[in-house]
Amino acid sequence: MNKPRELLKKIPLFAPLGEKDLKVLSESVRLQKVKQGQAIFRKGDEGTALYVLKTGRIKIVLPSSLGDEIIVSIFSEGDFFGEMSLLDGEPRSADAIAIEPCELFILSRNDFLAFLQANLSGVKSILALLSQRLRRTDDFLEDVCFLNISDRLTKALLELAKAHGKKDGGKTSIDLTLTQKELGDLVGATRESVNKELKYLREEGLIATEGNKITIINMKKLSSRIEE
Ligand code: CMP
Repeated sequence: MNKPRELLKKIPLFAPLGEKDLKVLSESVRLQKVKQGQAIFRKGDEGTALYVLKTGRIKIVLPSSLGDEIIVSIFSEGDFFGEMSLLDGEPRSADAIAIEPCELFILSRNDFLAFLQANLSGVKSILALLSQRLRRTDDFLEDVCFLNISDRLTKALLELAKAHGKKDGGKTSIDLTLTQKELGDLVGATRESVNKELKYLREEGLIATEGNKITIINMKKLSSRIEE
């Protein structure tokens, strides 16, 4: 049976909890469904809850007044987001948009803070995740300053394949319904540059594309492009 307690156990943040704490938590969370393309919250909103992805994927986006975007992260099943404004009391730092239909566990700010108060393992998980996210943001900053678009896109494809790819023999496919514009938003490039680079990688036999699905034909060969 799909009891909330059983489902919450599968979420890494809550996995170390004992049965009693899981029961308390399962009584506090509510489940929400969101459609593809729907905003869960926007930058500047008040932070009232923590979100944990039960199914689906979301993108964390920094919007600009001119309509451009930077995608700072893509989260999938088991990931949580929306912790920053709960911890520092500031407004939401970015938009959270569903890139697939999603099911989300929602934990109110008070329940999240009570959970942290009672669970040192939860505090450690949050601190580890915040450090990881800061590291990734440092990497992104470094790449935008020191790598060309071609290497940035190659690196992003390898990371997407690692985090979200499906292996099929020696190939890995990334089926994230990400448009070329969104891939550009992920690496700080225009849709046109992404289109040109994908065409080049296709001609080199390193990737294959079918709609928005990208298949990496040889991960090793693709990685060697940025290791030189
Ligand atoms: P919050 O500021 O409440 O709302 C936006 C959320 O996006 C934020 O919490 C984090 O969960 C997430 N987020 C913001 N910036 C980053 C980042 N650089 N890397 C990963 N996640 C982020």
